[in-house]
Amino acid sequence: MLELNGVVKHYHSAGEEVRAIDGVSLTIAPGELVALHGPSGSGKTTLLLLIAALLKPKREISALSEEQACDFRFEEVGFVYQTTRLMAHASALENAARDLLLGQVGMREARARAIPWLERVGLAGSLTRTPEQLSGGERQRVAIARALAGEPRLILADEPTGNLDSVRSQEIVELLGSVAHEREACVLLVTHDVEAAALADRRLELRDGTLHDAPAAGASGGVEAGKGGVEAGRSGGETGRSGAEAGRGGGETGRSGAKAGRGGGDAGRGGGEAGRGGGETQDSVQSGSSGAEARSGQRAATP
Ligand SMILES: Nc1ncnc2c1ncn2[C@@H]1O[C@H](COP(=O)(O)OP(=O)(O)O)[C@@H](O)[C@H]1O
Ligand SMILES: [Mg+2]
Repeated sequence: MLELNGVVKHYHSAGEEVRAIDGVSLTIAPGELVALHGPSGSGKTTLLLLIAALLKPKREISALSEEQACDFRFEEVGFVYQTTRLMAHASALENAARDLLLGQVGMREARARAIPWLERVGLAGSLTRTPEQLSGGERQRVAIARALAGEPRLILADEPTGNLDSVRSQEIVELLGSVAHEREACVLLVTHDVEAAALADRRLELRDGTLHDAPAAGASGGVEAGKGGVEAGRSGGETGRSGAEAGRGGGETGRSGAKAGRGGGDAGRGGGEAGRGGGETQDSVQSGSSGAEARSGQRAATP
């Protein structure tokens, strides 16, 4: 369950205020895949970063501490960035297992958990290949496997099919849809691909920081989403572990905030690329560091 109420994020740059997200309310049920599109600059990436607690909304009242935000990302969020951000010279398997290792899962278990996801994205034969030996589409699929390997409850994918041909795009969106339904995960997928969006349970459009329903393009993608999860999502709160209150915004309009509750049971360790969040725009491959270093780097770099 993901719930946003009137979330606001304005950037101040060069003396100008950019109203990147301007009062967005959104609920995604467990098991639901929601496709989001909108023109460049409409705030799609900003919205995903806010939900992943990589950015903080304006005027939040119950903000997460850095540490809580970091834990939330590791435990609950799988983020597929607009650019792949793979470690250079590391194998597909090491890349896919990386966030599990950062989340303190042991090497053997991390590999065992990452392999089935690499197989599922069609890379069973490429486990030992490095990003330099993979095509753009294959690199993107490694990044998707990395995001899914932690079995997160919340999957945020920022144009993950941008480098893929239409058959692969379709497969990836179907995969995200089945992951949503199987694991009762909430999936928010930014995509401009009309065919891919048609596979989603629901389509939304972001324009100038505000959210609108987007009409179904042909097929109505209604898949049975497990919609009963509202209470489950919230009940996690009582355990004291759940929930990112990513904030309130909205000036006079009152409460807002992002809550992502843990629906009970075990929550997989999820792999946000935490502090590497914000600003990068180039595709690709970055050098890795050891788990411990990377993790503390992440904390430090969190905006
Ligand atoms: N770190 C930042 N500082 C200032 N302005 C930003 C920053 N990031 C994004 N913006 C601005 O916020 C708006 C929304 O950007 P973004 O969320 O990247 O949109 P999209 O992903 O839909 O293309 C744009 O006007 C962009 O220039
Ligand atoms: Mg973007």
